[in-house]
Amino acid sequence: MRVVIQDNYEKMSKWAAQYIAKKINAHKEDRPFVLGLPTGSSPIGVYKELVRMNKAGEISFKNVVTFNMDEYCGLPREHDQSYWYFMHDNFFDHLVDMNPDNINILNGMAEDPEEECANYEKKIASYGGIDLFMGGIGVDGHLAFNEPFTSLSSRTGIRKLTTDTRIVNSRFFGNDPEKVPAYALSVGIGTVMDSKEVLVLINGHNKARALAKTVAGSVSQMWTCSALQMHNGAIIACDEAACGELKVDAYRYFLDIEKDERL
Ligand code: GLP
Repeated sequence: MRVVIQDNYEKMSKWAAQYIAKKINAHKEDRPFVLGLPTGSSPIGVYKELVRMNKAGEISFKNVVTFNMDEYCGLPREHDQSYWYFMHDNFFDHLVDMNPDNINILNGMAEDPEEECANYEKKIASYGGIDLFMGGIGVDGHLAFNEPFTSLSSRTGIRKLTTDTRIVNSRFFGNDPEKVPAYALSVGIGTVMDSKEVLVLINGHNKARALAKTVAGSVSQMWTCSALQMHNGAIIACDEAACGELKVDAYRYFLDIEKDERL
């Protein structure tokens, strides 16, 4: 697993955006580049930088198909806290050449959520799988909405959110955890693990414990993000603040091994 430590959030975001751009630009296969995407505050800097590069003609999304990680159940698209709204507001609406037909986001209002999730898996497979899945994690280490003790081989499905996650996310719902939907649709850990590459953003002091568990704890369903240790193409892009709970040895190892790497 690579752990790329950058000085601060801005540098982490630029590094990750450049990495994604490099992969899209290098994609020569006769099929679209399939990109998995997260919501949350962690990826906002990456989205801003990708939009800038797209407007500057440095990267095109013409041949990119996207699949988002998750969506709340019961929020219509137009709700300003739906992940559909977030993705359009922070990213898709600003791109000059993104084909709306290539955007895939789970429908949290689906009449048959199980069918919705099964079809999502089928659609990912129809493109030949995900080339690069970008993600963020929760303070409890959840990847997408795979809360602690979700199976590490889980597939796209319905997830019940923990009280902790509803409290953390209540900052977007008038600080009332009861207003945060209790359920979500989410890709599984197995779905993410099937991607060719996974790039997870971890920043800020409040993620320090989760970062240490992700990269240097035991592989355990208690920290679902730790499954990434078993992925052969996993990269953690992080800032200094998130490294606070890494052992000095691990911290120095990652700095040393990444010293002369650019991307
Ligand atoms: C939500 C999302 C996750 C995201 C997490 C962290 O729970 N479902 O996909 O990674 O929040 O969000 P933030 O980046 O705002 O800390």
